[in-house]
Amino acid sequence: MDEKSRTLMRRSLTLVSTKGEDNLVVKETVVPAVGEEDVMIDVKFCGLNFAEASMRQGLYAPMPPVPFVPGYECSGFVKEVGAAVKDIKTGDRVVALSDMGAWQDQLVLPQENCFVIPENMSLEDAAAIPVNYVTAAIMLFEQAVLKPGQSVFVHMAAGGVGTAVGQLCKTVPDVTVFGTASASKHEHCRAHGITCPIDYKTQDYAQVVKSSSFRGVDIMLDPVGGSDSSRSHSILKPLGKHIHYGGSSYVLGENLTFYGMYRALVNKLFSPTYDGFGLMDKNVMVGGLHVGKLVKDRANFSIVRRNMESLVELYQEGKIKPVIDSIYPFEEVKEAMARIYQRKNIGKILLRASPGSDGK
Ligand SMILES: NC(=O)c1ccc[n+]([C@@H]2O[C@H](COP(=O)([O-])OP(=O)(O)OC[C@H]3O[C@@H](n4cnc5c(N)ncnc54)[C@H](OP(=O)(O)O)[C@@H]3O)[C@@H](O)[C@H]2O)c1
Repeated sequence: MDEKSRTLMRRSLTLVSTKGEDNLVVKETVVPAVGEEDVMIDVKFCGLNFAEASMRQGLYAPMPPVPFVPGYECSGFVKEVGAAVKDIKTGDRVVALSDMGAWQDQLVLPQENCFVIPENMSLEDAAAIPVNYVTAAIMLFEQAVLKPGQSVFVHMAAGGVGTAVGQLCKTVPDVTVFGTASASKHEHCRAHGITCPIDYKTQDYAQVVKSSSFRGVDIMLDPVGGSDSSRSHSILKPLGKHIHYGGSSYVLGENLTFYGMYRALVNKLFSPTYDGFGLMDKNVMVGGLHVGKLVKDRANFSIVRRNMESLVELYQEGKIKPVIDSIYPFEEVKEAMARIYQRKNIGKILLRASPGSDGK
């Protein structure tokens, strides 16, 4: 570590415990040295995802032992580059994916994790794209191989991933998208490609799909997990694909109570298990996706990279555009997360890394 890097400090939003309400605190830490192939980013915005709301309650797997800095994505200006970095230069505006640790105002990452953003992309939009849109794109286009005329179902349709799913489905002709969301969010859903929003609080979504002219769906995108997954699975058509990508049903509010732990246990106990003969009998496929693991595993990062590159093109063509629900400074991460726990957000929540930064 050279002298310059050793003395440079940064603000790191750190998870110090999985209990209590004030367990995310801003700490001062030393910025590591910039390696030969690394880029140092002066971070302006970071994405807040459902994943971190789960981590805060210790309900996310896998997660490192506390204390650690969460955060999978950020955007900002390049401050320094390593000697071997060719395609990124100081001053460039970039978006980056990180194997956690993105919630810091100065971030050092391998160049491969960083993407120079086009002129027409704001730093806010950039920070809102990676996790939500890469997840949606891999599921729809690489795993389920969505075709014109097919039907898709997505839970949490008005959230970050749900909005990305709706917008990406619009890029394929004649796709019908069913999606669950609170009734007050249905207008947003329709505007972003969810053709049939369903209020899961007052309607049985499986019945709605079964009694529609579709009678079932070709693709089930399931971030709910637990016992509810059996219901999701039941509406697959023959040759349908059920993709698991989350466990939102384990998060029951702002704090994990004893009752919550009991419910989580019961939920887990009644999660579906699939056996080969059962799947043969129904002529369906079951899969899963964890983008965080693709980011962590260097050998598989190319999957993330090619999807990010396609998404930047779609953004430039005006085919996708993140919906930003709200932006909070690091110090107000508790309030930001409360919007998720209280199911208030529509689209993406961002964290502002530096006080007063407008990201321009
Ligand atoms: N595997 C992966 O690589 C990957 C990547 C990204 C996200 N995910 C998963 O995808 C899901 C969606 O993530 P996201 O970031 O798009 O979510 P988000 O934007 O934070 O969505 C939050 C919204 O989801 C709805 N919701 C449903 N169940 C909820 C619950 N138990 N607690 C709070 N809100 C709930 C609420 O809207 P309503 O009012 O409409 O109910 C809420 O406003 C999560 O399960 C997440 O873990 C997985």
